[in-house]
Amino acid sequence: MIILIGGEKGGTGKTTLATNLAAMRARAGRDVLLLDTDRQGSASYWAQFRVEEEHSPPVPCVSKFGKGIPAQVRDLAKRYDDIVIDAGGRDSVELRSSLIVANRAYIPLQASQFDIWTLGHMDDLVQSAQGFNPELEAFVVLNRASTHPSMTEVSEAQEALGDFEQVGLASSVVRERVAYRKAARSGVCVGELDPQDLKALAEIEAFYSEVFNG
Ligand SMILES: Nc1ncnc2c1ncn2[C@@H]1O[C@H](COP(=O)(O)OP(=O)(O)O)[C@@H](O)[C@H]1O
Ligand SMILES: [Mg+2]
Repeated sequence: MIILIGGEKGGTGKTTLATNLAAMRARAGRDVLLLDTDRQGSASYWAQFRVEEEHSPPVPCVSKFGKGIPAQVRDLAKRYDDIVIDAGGRDSVELRSSLIVANRAYIPLQASQFDIWTLGHMDDLVQSAQGFNPELEAFVVLNRASTHPSMTEVSEAQEALGDFEQVGLASSVVRERVAYRKAARSGVCVGELDPQDLKALAEIEAFYSEVFNG
């Protein structure tokens, strides 16, 4: 499977979700590649830290930029079971070209970031990519949601997405938790933290299942 975590806004949790998914996939015994297409290089930095700290299993990570990405990813897909792409912010060539090869795209957003402009633009990008990649499915995943489980964030997100045709809403919700920050700093996924945050673990596992088995 080729999974893209992308979107135009910065700081929405793309690297957080991409690194967690990749590490969880590796822990499940799959040959997974983390592909960093963001020039900020946070996913590569996470992966380098994972090597330095000798966390096992390793998560191979490479960076690719520019419009050669579709061909390069198709080639890499012959050698890996799964590829998780961390596609940087803005309407980049990397985001557009990753959409052409992904099976599924997940766009993390905070509830407050559900503006029509962002969603409308993503919907258009997904629609143009579907011209080359008709199987592409795209979802917004609510990230950093409040841990006070009020229903309004989810229903507001559903309502905001109702106007768009190509982008759906992921059924799992990732909430604001310190565990995600800790994992990101240490080159691990949430399940590898000690002590464990079982709530964070349950929600990232739900997201993982939705991405790979849903
Ligand atoms: N669910 C979450 N709970 C707490 N902090 C989060 C969560 N998701 C992301 N963050 C933090 O928000 C910041 C931006 O996340 P990051 O994954 O780097 O975003 P992006 O890759 O989209 O720029 C980081 O400091 C990260 O640790
Ligand atoms: Mg990032």
